[in-house]
Amino acid sequence: MGIVTSRSMVATLSLPVWFRSVSDLPEHAARNRAYWDAQAYDYREPGRRNWASDEPVWGVWRIPESQVSLLPDDLDGLDTIELGCGTGYVSAWLARRGARPVGIDNSEAQLASARELQREFSLEFPLLHGNAERVPYPDESFDLAVSEYGASIWCDPYLWIPEAARLLRPGGRLIFLVNAPLVMVCSPESPELPVSDRLLRPYFGLHRLEWPGDPSVEFHLPHGEMIDLLARTGFQVERLVELRPPDGSTTRYAWISLDWAQRWPAEDVWMARKAK
Ligand SMILES: C[S@@+](CC[C@H](N)C(=O)[O-])C[C@H]1O[C@@H](n2cnc3c(N)ncnc32)[C@H](O)[C@@H]1O
Repeated sequence: MGIVTSRSMVATLSLPVWFRSVSDLPEHAARNRAYWDAQAYDYREPGRRNWASDEPVWGVWRIPESQVSLLPDDLDGLDTIELGCGTGYVSAWLARRGARPVGIDNSEAQLASARELQREFSLEFPLLHGNAERVPYPDESFDLAVSEYGASIWCDPYLWIPEAARLLRPGGRLIFLVNAPLVMVCSPESPELPVSDRLLRPYFGLHRLEWPGDPSVEFHLPHGEMIDLLARTGFQVERLVELRPPDGSTTRYAWISLDWAQRWPAEDVWMARKAK
């Protein structure tokens, strides 16, 4: 939570959508690029810790995969794309389980960390610099699209979810982790204050969120709108996992307490499948 040259009209009209330049970023993506280039250094060590973990661990409480079963049982040979891959540890976990991952991220500084970690852990896969709302790959290139606090909260869902649908093969899976809308409704405007047990902003109309003094732009949708959007773009929702950290869980983030996250959902994992 919070926390390239422009193409000609002729090129726009004559090239297939997946081949368009990633130069002309929308306003929110340009702001988020600058924000994440500035944040990248602080995410390097947490990224390294996750690269070093054999077992995937999810969300701010690092809940082990064995407790939540978010990944498909068999990843062997699957073409995967991580939308907003950051330091790339989710793709590293997928690669170690036999997948062929690609990561795309809007921040060159985050990708520099990802490349450094690839070298350190001797595990390489393609990394693209660009906006996950418009990915330079042809239709139906992937079997699985994932996002852990990447495109899933930093891209406009009305742009990145249709893009994920375009990229996936029929029957392909979409798995993404986000802040639960309830936690967004209860988040004070000051980042120094923890999430409240009071409703601080309307739930209906939740979409683009900006915080005072913070240049980044986030996106969050109410559950009903997310279900409608997924259905309209050709997905069937298979599971909505509301993560509940076990007793004794710890986090490096100050905005959420264990007490809050054990009483109400703070993180959602959406699991959907593109219709065959
Ligand atoms: C909290 S990180 C999550 C990534 C990964 N799970 C990690 O922690 O390293 C958020 C990432 O989303 C990326 N991001 C933000 N907007 C994006 C966009 N429009 N397209 C692709 N990536 C984007 C940021 O650059 C950042 O690396």
